[in-house]
Amino acid sequence: MNKRIFIFDTTLRDGEQVPGCQLNTVEKIEIALALEELGVDIIEAGFPISSPGDFASIVEISKVVKKPVICPLTRAIKTDIDCAWESLKFAKRKRIHTFISSSDIHIQYQFNSTREKIMEQAVDAVKYAKTFVEDVEFSAMDAGRTDNEFLARFIEAAIKAGATTVNIPDTTGYCLPQEFGEKIKYLFKHVDGIDKAIVSTHCHNDLGLATANSIAGVIHGAKQIEVTINGVGERAGNTSLEETVMILNTRKDLECKTNINSKKIYATSRLVSRLMKMPVQPNKAIVGRNAFAHSAGIHQHGILKNKFTYEIINPEDVGIPKTSLPLTARSGRAALKHHLERIGYNVSPKKLDEIYKNFLALADKKKDTTDDDLRILMGDEALEKGIKLELLEVVCGKPLTPMATVKLKVGNKELAATSSGNGPVDATFNAINSIIKKTVTLEEFLVQAITKGSDDTGIVHIQLLSKGNMYYGFGADTDIIVASAKAYIDGLNKIL
Ligand code: KIV
Ligand code: ZN
Repeated sequence: MNKRIFIFDTTLRDGEQVPGCQLNTVEKIEIALALEELGVDIIEAGFPISSPGDFASIVEISKVVKKPVICPLTRAIKTDIDCAWESLKFAKRKRIHTFISSSDIHIQYQFNSTREKIMEQAVDAVKYAKTFVEDVEFSAMDAGRTDNEFLARFIEAAIKAGATTVNIPDTTGYCLPQEFGEKIKYLFKHVDGIDKAIVSTHCHNDLGLATANSIAGVIHGAKQIEVTINGVGERAGNTSLEETVMILNTRKDLECKTNINSKKIYATSRLVSRLMKMPVQPNKAIVGRNAFAHSAGIHQHGILKNKFTYEIINPEDVGIPKTSLPLTARSGRAALKHHLERIGYNVSPKKLDEIYKNFLALADKKKDTTDDDLRILMGDEALEKGIKLELLEVVCGKPLTPMATVKLKVGNKELAATSSGNGPVDATFNAINSIIKKTVTLEEFLVQAITKGSDDTGIVHIQLLSKGNMYYGFGADTDIIVASAKAYIDGLNKIL
């Protein structure tokens, strides 16, 4: 019989910790509901002591999510645990997750403490959490670099104190798969009472091994995998949900199963990418735009004869749809509604009218309208707040000096300026700066096309630095100069 693997999603906690990926409560609820639909078992909904916003989001998520366990994160400190318990008051199924480091380097430099004292603090925290709730998870941070003999004693003490899940994080993404697998095996052999708890993996991707390490953990007995959508997370990110789930689905010889409805993977990936303003790399396994694109002639030939020659996963199994009803400038509202519903948007007739107008404007400029175009059309309204772009005219080309004229609506005033620059984007940003009279530093500027054609929608991600804080902006348009202006204005609206 297949072993049931529990999927613990930490997109809203470890994923959301990434600078620039911050979400507001409404966005977090939207993602939490999508995770519920996807079938995750546990949602790590935030770190409530860290900010009132995080606390409020856990409360609100707890009100609407019914099936998954809701889990806030706490340091091994009583006030954190009190706060976590308070944030769970509306949750139908509750878990408290408490952590402290186990590696010598963390104990010495981060905690300026000793193994014995840290172990005592861990045990006290688990016992305290246990006074509120039966379901308590304990994490030994940096377990990846902790010596196995001490880790076994540490985990044994946590289980004895009442931990029902014990998590083994490779916090720095240092382990090799075989080494991480051996670590889990060692714990199963040397920890008294290990059968009383669920052993969990939490692997970071600093060396690109997060998924491999998590699977190695499962092979050696771990029953819970901690993941994020698209692998988002600190530095190089966390283990990605879509990769681990599809490995377990594809490699039947591992004899594991999850509760994930794989057909929802693609839509969830795009939702998280859009809300976190974090593009999915084109060659990302499972959900990248090229993951199922066969460009080499020899591959195409094989695929046409038998798709299993080069395709080990059916794209439809992860929810990448075959479009049987292409959307063009001649499509009506019914076709648009059908496609919006297919990718998860239910729109009122009034909303459909608004989107339809924008859709026609886009479809006039593009041959095919993709699902990503529709998601951008739906998301574009969020960009309509604060400063608005009313007009943009650029002059550029060889041997001209690039010039841009920009008209912005700021509150109820319309303000215009013309500036030059070393290119059309630079000229546009200079013109915007001279209207808003604010100094910001452009730290990153990234342009991507959704698919391939020169008529495609351009997506622009930027990072602006203002007074030591980083702000992210996002814009999309078939005209990349307009997309750049929208992204810049999106970032400015956040600063202002
Ligand atoms: O990476 C890590 O160690 C963590 C813990 C808090 C579980 O995120
Ligand atoms: Zn982590």
